[in-house]
Amino acid sequence: MLVLGIESSCDETGVAMVQLQGDAVPTLLAHALHSQIEMHQAFGGVVPELASRDHIRRVLPLTRQVLNESGRTLQEVDVVAYTRGPGLAGALLVGAGVACALGAALGKPVLGVHHLEGHLLSPFLSQDPPEFPFVALLVSGGHTQLMRVDGVGRYELLGETIDDAAGEAFDKSAKLMGLAYPGGPLLSKLAESGDPKAYALPRPLLHSGNLDFSFAGLKTAVLVQSQRMLAAGGVTSFQDLPLQQQADLAASTQAAIVEVLLKKSVTALKQTGLKRLVVAGGVGANRQLREQLNAECAKRGVRVHYPELHLCTDNGAMIAMAAAMRLQSGLQQAVTDYAFDVKPR
Ligand code: KG4
Ligand code: ZN
Repeated sequence: MLVLGIESSCDETGVAMVQLQGDAVPTLLAHALHSQIEMHQAFGGVVPELASRDHIRRVLPLTRQVLNESGRTLQEVDVVAYTRGPGLAGALLVGAGVACALGAALGKPVLGVHHLEGHLLSPFLSQDPPEFPFVALLVSGGHTQLMRVDGVGRYELLGETIDDAAGEAFDKSAKLMGLAYPGGPLLSKLAESGDPKAYALPRPLLHSGNLDFSFAGLKTAVLVQSQRMLAAGGVTSFQDLPLQQQADLAASTQAAIVEVLLKKSVTALKQTGLKRLVVAGGVGANRQLREQLNAECAKRGVRVHYPELHLCTDNGAMIAMAAAMRLQSGLQQAVTDYAFDVKPR
């Protein structure tokens, strides 16, 4: 069975083809991605209307590219999957509309997928896929959750952020440091030459005893700290501070976020008694987070699985994969009712 997947929830247009054969882990035949990041950078964040329009421009050329690279024709596709939410309403409607139009034209069923389930199952696209059950740390620009995962569709929420997501904490702090959108990767790069202990920043809810997160206070602490540094240095722009100071604040910010994610993941592993951790979502690409999780989990005899680096952020492969795994598990059937809707929240 061939599943074509379309992702358009935010600022990446992704299309992919996954093949489902019996009980085996479905395989990725091809995927294509267009990132709108450059287009939105001038505005310091994603502009929803521009995102929708760009998805419209990209989705069919990317679909053609995936068909070419997989050596398959549109007529061979058995199911067309798309991201149903959460995400930007207009952006989601492009992927849903195109998927349902293709389905209707081909007489093939369609299937709407939860974006976070895509992230959650994205490590199954790697060479070394995880086995159930596992603890999942889902860290993206919009979500921060710890979950117990017993199988496809069998998810128990253990804890989540009560305000900002981890990716948001990276991005908002980066913005204060004058870094371009999305600042997470740039802050992480700047942090490489910094001292993570240079500035004492809060670790919100670290000792709360539960598995919830809070990152809004960290952003405020970064703001206060950077204002102090500007005043002391007699400059008005963060980028006029000595490079070492900039790197030190970036490293201290990253250390605060990573420590909270690390400690809470360890608590979740202890509480569930599970020996497997899956990390997914854009922040899962963070090198410090990976290094520290790897070291801590090695000590505890826990195996950690990540999606491949290029599949950490949004992409079509994870949507096609999640759809294929839901079909395989019998959890969901594709439908031929093409009156689609989307779920932005
Ligand atoms: O999963 P994703 O692509 O989109 C959402 O569904 O939100 O995640 C994007 C987020 C952004 O906040 C971005 O700054 C962050 O992931 N991110 C990183 C890194 N790469 C991406 N944050 C820290 N370090 C990175 N290397
Ligand atoms: Zn995402």
